[in-house]
Amino acid sequence: MQSSRCKHGRSSSQIALSMHIILWAVAAMRGGVLYASCDNVAQVHVSSLPSPVECSEEGRCKVRNYQGVWTDRDACLASRVVYPSTEAELVSAVAAAVEEGQKMKVVTEIGHSMSKLSCPAGDDGLLISTRDYMPDAVHVNRSDMSASVDAGLQLRHFVRELALHNVTIPHTPLWDGVSVGGVIATGSHGSGFFEGGSVISDYVNALRMVVPATAEEGYAKVLTLRRGDEAFRAAKISLGLLGVVSKVTFAVLPMFKRSLTVKLVSDDDLEERMAPFAKEHDFASLFWVPSASKVLYKEENAVDVSQEGDGVNAFPLVQPMLASHILKMRAHQDAVERSRDASGLCMAGEKMVEHRVKTGDGYVNSPGRFDGFPVVGFNHHMQTVGGCQLHKPSSSDVGADDWWTCKWDPRLEGIFYHHTAVAIPLASVADFVRDVKRLREINPQGMCVLNMFGGIHVRFVASSDAFLGDKVDSAVFELVYYRARDGKQGRLFQDVMEEIEQMMVFKYMGKPHWGKNRNVAFHGVAQKVVSTDKFLSVKAELDPDGLFSSAWTDELLGLHDTFAKADDDHCALDGICTCNEDRHCSPSTGYTCQRGYIFHEARVCRSSN
Ligand SMILES: Cc1cc2nc3c(=O)[nH]c(=O)nc-3n(C[C@H](O)[C@H](O)[C@H](O)COP(=O)(O)OP(=O)(O)OC[C@H]3O[C@@H](n4cnc5c(N)ncnc54)[C@H](O)[C@@H]3O)c2cc1C
Ligand SMILES: *[C@@H]1O[C@H](CO)[C@@H](O)[C@H](O)[C@H]1NC(C)=O
Ligand SMILES: *[C@@H]1O[C@H](CO)[C@@H](O)[C@H](O)[C@H]1NC(C)=O
Repeated sequence: MQSSRCKHGRSSSQIALSMHIILWAVAAMRGGVLYASCDNVAQVHVSSLPSPVECSEEGRCKVRNYQGVWTDRDACLASRVVYPSTEAELVSAVAAAVEEGQKMKVVTEIGHSMSKLSCPAGDDGLLISTRDYMPDAVHVNRSDMSASVDAGLQLRHFVRELALHNVTIPHTPLWDGVSVGGVIATGSHGSGFFEGGSVISDYVNALRMVVPATAEEGYAKVLTLRRGDEAFRAAKISLGLLGVVSKVTFAVLPMFKRSLTVKLVSDDDLEERMAPFAKEHDFASLFWVPSASKVLYKEENAVDVSQEGDGVNAFPLVQPMLASHILKMRAHQDAVERSRDASGLCMAGEKMVEHRVKTGDGYVNSPGRFDGFPVVGFNHHMQTVGGCQLHKPSSSDVGADDWWTCKWDPRLEGIFYHHTAVAIPLASVADFVRDVKRLREINPQGMCVLNMFGGIHVRFVASSDAFLGDKVDSAVFELVYYRARDGKQGRLFQDVMEEIEQMMVFKYMGKPHWGKNRNVAFHGVAQKVVSTDKFLSVKAELDPDGLFSSAWTDELLGLHDTFAKADDDHCALDGICTCNEDRHCSPSTGYTCQRGYIFHEARVCRSSN
């Protein structure tokens, strides 16, 4: 249809340079190698990621997200942190705070959610960390096919332990550094309609929770909520607002394998193909690279465990990378932004998709080797992976100042991005895709900024009965795009990303992922979920004084409307507001507030340069 749109006749060395801008491509080239060396790199130092909580000697604490910076760039303060390792310690931590009327929040070992969910109200709240919370780790019961796990356990250990028992949870997120409690609190998901759909909370049978209680009850108590209880539907996606989840019991299946084939095709009929494709494969998902007019369809299905194959998703984004390399890549990205020229990114987009399919799109048939599709492997290996968070003994082969780590390591001023993830009802995806294509017609180069992080990732989720879950079967569109370290700096084709974001949220009434996104995406979210009212009545019962809530989470639940009132200079650059005056953008650097091209109701910051 328009495959020559982004060809600008660059030399091959320029192309090679452009490839370094692209997180996915560069990582993919190294991915297989890194995976192979992952378990025998005793001679390199792999750091563990730092805790999200830091306390000064005087005992004041700060909590941040995994990138080190909250959406609003403000610090989050708290008075203290505790690290319970038994349920009794958990009960006494909650009881002490309730007795004092102190606000509190659960934080986790790494703390991945970008949105300000784990920031307690005020600046003298209590942080209850689940870092050490795994008193009995994992229990598998094969007679009722369930598995109980302590909420602090990292997914990496959980899925591996299940595999040792020959059982598995059909869907889990891509990244294994998250905690079990964190995953279900935000309704995290995999992709596809296999079994009950890909929202992990929908595989929970029961939850043990520590919640506030009266003085007579000792200020805190332990509840068990089960499938069938009204409160359970609130607790299975709770945003941490009801109390502390101590133990989670999941329904499990006998271990199975997945078989994956990735196909690269034109996006000509994407609008018609997307919804049927979602239901044709158990774990269907895709990457859309609009600048190259290409789609990578991931045809992924469950197969019998006896089928041969020991494939692994060596997902490049979570493989360790040298700190020095991460900084170099970021410097390339900064340079592209400064040049205000996307043509290198446009060029690199086509190379990237071809390279991805040719090299297995991050998958390997056996450790370190890609021999061709299909890739067949155990369910958990094909779905949930990591590596960059691992702690390895230190040694010096990379030099004293360098170390292996994750690309987002907050100790580096490395890779830094916005992450918009919004679930659009499957019934509307055709119209949405058509709108994005119309936007591309008007502004072809604008789509190229998506190439920096690999294109638009699309995954599928089923409707849920969780009160804060999705009402209908949906496609989650994820856009990852450059974020400046300087909050006053506009971005390359910022207007295009903003128009897509506002279309998703306001025109297509998409529901944002609770743990990702910028404030704009959460506008009106209370009306988009199964039942905010029912959630609120369970919350009033379990935490009547709102000790686990903050102004931010009240806002999410529609209790007040500060998002709409955000009015600071530059507020639209970080998605704190949608602009309606130029000062919300960055007029001094040429960004003013304008209408969307396709969605005229959109208000976006557009550069005149
Ligand atoms: C690299 C990467 C890949 C990702 N991949 C996916 C993906 O494939 N699919 C997807 O859907 N999401 C994905 N995410 C998002 C991630 O799954 C969510 O942000 C998740 O909530 C993070 O879990 P966490 O353990 O870090 O919890 P946090 O982010 O620290 O906490 C999230 C919320 O849960 C609450 N909470 C945590 N534990 C408890 C507990 N025991 N009791 C009560 N409340 C609790 C916290 O208070 C907070 O409100 C990804 C994130 C990253 C960084
Ligand atoms: C396993 O599940 C069965 C059936 O629900 C139950 O009777 C049994 O007590 C469980 N075993 C354990 C150790 O919890
Ligand atoms: C898991 O399956 C393997 C191979 O069939 C078997 O040897 C092993 O005993 C099983 N483990 C458990 C805990 O059932």
